Amino acid sequence: MSVPYWNHNVHYHSLVMKLMPAGCQRALDLGCGDGLLASKLAARATQVTAADRAPEAIAMACERHGGLDNVEFVTADYLDDPRGLLPEGKYDFVSAVAVLHHADFTEAVAALTRLLAPGGRLVVIGLARNRSLLDWLVSGAGQVASRALRLRHGPKSGPGKGVPAMDPVLSWAETARLARRTLPGSRFGRLLLRRYLLVWDKPE
Ligand SMILES: C[S@@+](CC[C@H](N)C(=O)[O-])C[C@H]1O[C@@H](n2cnc3c(N)ncnc32)[C@H](O)[C@@H]1O
Repeated sequence: MSVPYWNHNVHYHSLVMKLMPAGCQRALDLGCGDGLLASKLAARATQVTAADRAPEAIAMACERHGGLDNVEFVTADYLDDPRGLLPEGKYDFVSAVAVLHHADFTEAVAALTRLLAPGGRLVVIGLARNRSLLDWLVSGAGQVASRALRLRHGPKSGPGKGVPAMDPVLSWAETARLARRTLPGSRFGRLLLRRYLLVWDKPE
């Protein structure tokens, strides 16, 4: 059963979908929460693996989207996967929405890139912390946009209590700097609704 709701993560699902290369065979959504994005990716990829380290999140994902033939939900930690539930070098698309700030950025990026197949694409929608005046100005504009969007979508709502949330530690500038250093050639941009977009294509 799908549970439609709107929040800043859900708002950017369509962007993630647009960035998924056509003909994607194996997609992986990390930190999948209640599985809503995985259920959308399933319409465009041959096979989707959706992983979360929180068993409560995976239980919710199975309950809401377990009926999809080409999606498997896995309880796994992408940073520490001793059972090899997420094989390295296998996925030609990896997404992570509101997940990277749960870990050290450099470690997280290293793990994500190992999972990608050569030629595969990584798409991250992430959160960062306001520090500079410009950060606060952009986030002020984002709040205005968010209020306007709530008129269309109704109040923001989350997937449910089983999906752990956390505040980001790194600022926007620190995140951009680390992204440039750890993923040469990547594209990084701040989005309006308190999120950034990071896209990286793994060399063949
Ligand atoms: C804020 S929620 C976002 C959930 C979903 N991506 C969304 O956009 O609604 C972050 C999720 O990432 C998961 N997570 C954090 N670190 C993880 C890790 N190392 N491995 C797997 N899942 C992780 C959490 O359990 C949580 O469900």
